[in-house]
Amino acid sequence: MWDYTDKVLELFYDPKNQGEIPKTDEPGVKLATGEIGSIACGDALRLHLKVEVESDKILDARFQTFGCTSAIASSSALTEMVKGLTLDEALKVSNKEIADYLGGLPEAKMHCSVMGQEALEAAIYNYRGIPLATHDDDDEGALVCSCFGISESKIRRIVIENQLTDAEQVTNYVKAGGGCGSCLANIDDIIKSVQQESTAPTLNNYGVKVATNIAISQQQSPRPLTNVQKIALIQKVLDEEVRPVLIADGGDVELYDVDGDHVKVLLQGACGSCSSSTATLKIAIEARLQERVSKNLIVEAVEP
Ligand code: FES
Repeated sequence: MWDYTDKVLELFYDPKNQGEIPKTDEPGVKLATGEIGSIACGDALRLHLKVEVESDKILDARFQTFGCTSAIASSSALTEMVKGLTLDEALKVSNKEIADYLGGLPEAKMHCSVMGQEALEAAIYNYRGIPLATHDDDDEGALVCSCFGISESKIRRIVIENQLTDAEQVTNYVKAGGGCGSCLANIDDIIKSVQQESTAPTLNNYGVKVATNIAISQQQSPRPLTNVQKIALIQKVLDEEVRPVLIADGGDVELYDVDGDHVKVLLQGACGSCSSSTATLKIAIEARLQERVSKNLIVEAVEP
């Protein structure tokens, strides 16, 4: 028998926010879904979000899961935690915070909290039209555990966020190493490398060597977008939030190129010849992209 906290048992016997969010015609509201796991592998979670488009706030969150006691309790906890948050705030919710909300989970069940965090990320990325990175296109890390399809970057992230110190813990959190076991030595190496990085000295502003704590600094900042994700999000914001306004005014804009933080666009129709096209760029496009994608973006018009 697992040693569950009272909160886990409460949310298992009386789960909050179970089920789907019904389709709605409400103006200014969009639904999004994120799905993780598969029924064939035992655990699966589908998370539904209702988002207020203008404010990016999560108005409602519900779940469907095919998992065990801790999967139901983790999913239920997650839905309670994210209601009222903006999407950016929700992206910072870690699996550790889900487990903490429950007063803790048995270590062998921590993968349920990880599944909740990943379903949340999948739902938000779906909402934003960002392709979710998989081990196939994740240039930050190669596939480490072929039995469970777990990449190096995922193992590094979970080790850092939960301050894990051995391969058995990694298996409890993301299942890697729990099959044939041939990847366990590689997992040990990744843990050692994370530990070395977290204590490696670096130079401060005065050129003096100081110890850094990567675990803490990475925990506090959300994962940056990859280039592919950034371009996809810029295109989506242009298509859904900028072009309709410009088209209504007799103009249009086309994404030409993205070079680092420089977004090059082609202004068309009335926008291209309009004397206020600089203001159009700054107000309608740059400010919008800074707000929705990254505050560092600079928009430049290129000649057709
Ligand atoms: S490769 Fe990781 S358990 Fe088999």
